[in-house]
Amino acid sequence: MREKLEEIRARASAQLSEINADLEAIRIKYLGKKGELTAVLRNMGSLSPEERPAIGAIANEVRTYIENAIAERMKEKKKDALGEKLEAERIDVTMPGTAVDVGRRHPLAKVRKEMEDIFIGMGFSVVEGPEVEYDYYNFQALNIPENHPARDTQDTFYITDKILLRSQTSPVQVRTMEKQKPPIRIISPGRVYRSDEVDATHSPLFHQLEGLVVDKGITMGDLKGMLETFAKTMFGESTRIRFRPHHFPFTEPSAEVDVSCFSCGGKGCRLCKNEGWIEILGAGMVHPNVLRGCGIDPEVYSGFAFGMGIERIVMTKYNIDDMRLLYENDMRFLGQF
Ligand code: DAH
Repeated sequence: MREKLEEIRARASAQLSEINADLEAIRIKYLGKKGELTAVLRNMGSLSPEERPAIGAIANEVRTYIENAIAERMKEKKKDALGEKLEAERIDVTMPGTAVDVGRRHPLAKVRKEMEDIFIGMGFSVVEGPEVEYDYYNFQALNIPENHPARDTQDTFYITDKILLRSQTSPVQVRTMEKQKPPIRIISPGRVYRSDEVDATHSPLFHQLEGLVVDKGITMGDLKGMLETFAKTMFGESTRIRFRPHHFPFTEPSAEVDVSCFSCGGKGCRLCKNEGWIEILGAGMVHPNVLRGCGIDPEVYSGFAFGMGIERIVMTKYNIDDMRLLYENDMRFLGQF
């Protein structure tokens, strides 16, 4: 029996030293209820009383030996597993990182904000109006009755006979004057719509910024001074402005306003198409009919208004020759601003 015990110890020892030893299987094989060592101990009864203590002692020793060896291997395996885990999760802090792209404003949003800031600095407040608008506000109240030729140049999308997508931001003038009595000093930026074919300078959706000032004693000189300040801040200190007579139904007198080309200073170049000047907006003194229609007495109050296309300003400022670039969301283009 002594030899049997020694043989078990040697076999268990050999199995436990194998690299992939299945510790639980070995435990069951030797120490389990039906294990080999357990079987030997169960046979102790067949020994003589003299032999029993000595063999018992060896059996216990073998059991302790196997238990300890299993515990030892278990510890090693845990350590190996931890080592493997640490190795697998190791971070090389010297490796170059992945660059994170920083977002930025779209050039249209950027310039719009710049324009707003300039006017806010001159005491204007920013108001918004609906893009889905009544014919009344978009045309009639602006002195453009049905069948007026000005409607042809601003053909838009109709939802019903009386409701349309606004073709200009000018209806916000009327909405403001109906609600608020002078003094009024507002700008209103936003989207406008026209049923135009898409090309390098046209889009069925674009943006305008409207301005309106109404108070006692407002003159064309105020309009000119204010626009000059705007142009100098927007395009540079040496910029000059020029008024050309024009017609808008809702202003009288009306003008188209040009800025001197900031690229060539007025000598003529590609940007200004050799004109020396770039047209940026329409403006004028608010027509008495418009004031009256909003319940403001033109004998007491006067005002000026102006409206400009934001795309036009962006394209001029950044020398962009195709408007479609502003809507295509190509990061190679947008990333430059
Ligand atoms: N609404 C005009 C347009 O879309 C621009 C304009 C001209 C606005 C004169 C004004 C103005 O307020 O006084 O062409």
